[in-house]
Amino acid sequence: MEEILIDRSGALLQITFNRPEKLNALTRSMYAELARALDDAAGDFGIRAVVLSGEGGNFTSGNDIRDFMDDPPTSEDSTVAKFLSAMLNFPKPLIAAVSGNAIGVGTTMLLHCDVVVASPSANFSMPFVSLGLVPEAGSSYLFPQLVGYQRAAKIFFTGESFTADTAMEMGLVAEIAADPLQCATEIAEKIAEQPPQAVINTKALLKARHHDAVAAVMRAEFSLFAMALESDEAMAAFMKFMSKKEKK
Ligand code: COA
Repeated sequence: MEEILIDRSGALLQITFNRPEKLNALTRSMYAELARALDDAAGDFGIRAVVLSGEGGNFTSGNDIRDFMDDPPTSEDSTVAKFLSAMLNFPKPLIAAVSGNAIGVGTTMLLHCDVVVASPSANFSMPFVSLGLVPEAGSSYLFPQLVGYQRAAKIFFTGESFTADTAMEMGLVAEIAADPLQCATEIAEKIAEQPPQAVINTKALLKARHHDAVAAVMRAEFSLFAMALESDEAMAAFMKFMSKKEKK
């Protein structure tokens, strides 16, 4: 079974995380597929917007923790680094439809999306510190910029989760809808009817002010994240997750 589904319909590309039995936790190979799909879509003038979603009631529970233990992404050449770079540089509208859990990179990737639609019961969290890690995907820059320093610090330091209503009030989510995928697709269809070069140029203008700063922060985050992945704190947190699983 394909773990990343790619479905082209007219000018829209729908990318779906499809590993529902693991709440769509993202593996190295899934990041590689995602990076490839985004790079292909960037170069295909016929594609005017991309919709990201998860199969089975969850967006994604973040990076696969088993992967963190077995083959930590410590090189800037890793597939996760390629995926994050593809997100940062993606020139066309990225619309996310979030149901259920959006954990770790499941939340931080939303900071790179242009429009996020969430279900009323969606649940967001960035438990990097709780896992002995540090924020990634430029979130240590983009999240405080969005919500203010203290609110970002509280969420990062405590690892606490937040609801769709809170995410909307923060500006991380544009709309709450009972069927987020349908709503996100309708928004993407509307965008696809617009003059495409004007859309691309507008996105470039919207992102220009922070692009280089985010790229630099992503590099700094990456080196701290790589070190943290090999720390005792992280190993203890990963073992705790794995042992919970074994007790079930
Ligand atoms: N990495 C690897 N496996 C994961 C995973 C992840 N990030 N998230 C969920 N899974 C797996 C579970 O191990 C379980 O597998 P199993 O059925 O083989 O035991 C399956 O997905 C279902 O998850 P489960 O934990 O049983 O569901 P739950 O409803 O009890 O709990 C969560 C849901 C999201 C609270 C819990 O899965 C969790 O904390 N996941 C880790 C989230 C995380 O820390 N992500 C990394 C952020 S950097």
